[in-house]
Amino acid sequence: MKTVILGSKGMLGYELDKVFSNYDPILLSKDDLDITDKDRVKFKINELKPELIINAAAYTGVDGAEENEELATKTNGHAVGYIVEASSKINATLVHFSTDYVFDGSKKQGYTEYDKPNPINAYGRSKLAGENEILRFTPATTAGRQDDKLKYYIIRTSWLYGEHGKNFVDTMLSLSKKGELIKVVDDQFGSPTYTIDLALATRQIIEDKRPSGIYHRTNSGITSWYDFTKEIFNAFDVKTDVAPCASNEFPRPAKRPKYSILKSTKLPEMRPWQEALQDYKSNQ
Ligand SMILES: NC(=O)c1ccc[n+]([C@@H]2O[C@H](COP(=O)([O-])OP(=O)(O)OC[C@H]3O[C@@H](n4cnc5c(N)ncnc54)[C@H](OP(=O)(O)O)[C@@H]3O)[C@@H](O)[C@H]2O)c1
Repeated sequence: MKTVILGSKGMLGYELDKVFSNYDPILLSKDDLDITDKDRVKFKINELKPELIINAAAYTGVDGAEENEELATKTNGHAVGYIVEASSKINATLVHFSTDYVFDGSKKQGYTEYDKPNPINAYGRSKLAGENEILRFTPATTAGRQDDKLKYYIIRTSWLYGEHGKNFVDTMLSLSKKGELIKVVDDQFGSPTYTIDLALATRQIIEDKRPSGIYHRTNSGITSWYDFTKEIFNAFDVKTDVAPCASNEFPRPAKRPKYSILKSTKLPEMRPWQEALQDYKSNQ
């Protein structure tokens, strides 16, 4: 299947490249194709005519988005519209990644694919705008139009970490080298997810020919940032002092959802986050 990966030099993009290697993917980084350039997106996708487009390009600075909401919305919202339009014209399947941050985090038991998003920060709003660009093209709203053919997967994930990007695990490991007490918030909950597992789960969805729609894919299990940190130090055999603290002791530009938990009702759970973390360690 002729495949294009957008955002190929991002943390997830690198892993998608490896996991989809038997598809011989065409890799497009930001230098090759800036997805906010509408005409270039149209031209490039039409020129390449892939059967599968995987969009891992995004503006991912959660705090930065508060000040740069326009750029975040352009990249995570409008640009997704350009990609969808171009994909639908050539009947390509589109895979797009979204986030737990489309939800407000007030639902302790977690969110299913059918829950209504309600973002509480600029990044979440921009990612929801991207989801909506895709949903505009779905059969329910475009009955009778050629766009009906759009086959799409919106894959929401959370707390990503992997070998090729700035991530929480590496940040904690670097902090531990300073030999100072590390304070970590213990009142935000979610599911850490390894990029390799997400890339494999993405391939599985495509190869199983799942119906178009929204999917939740995270490693299973729920933890707080504090407990996650303790497990990181445990896995990497790091001896350092960690103390829990409340989010309000750590003011940041963007508000974070309290319960960032994505429940999967369409697919079986993925492996536990602790197991994935062990593999991350082994792959260092
Ligand atoms: N990281 C997380 O914790 C997390 C959690 C939930 C969901 N997600 C979602 O998962 C997906 C992958 O995230 P990630 O962590 O791999 O992000 P990442 O490491 O920041 O990668 C994103 C890539 O997109 C590129 N990019 C930015 N603007 C672009 C543009 N205008 N045109 C083309 N490429 C552009 C970036 O290039 P530059 O670096 O050169 O700007 C970067 O290579 C995203 O959709 C993200 O929203 C991530």
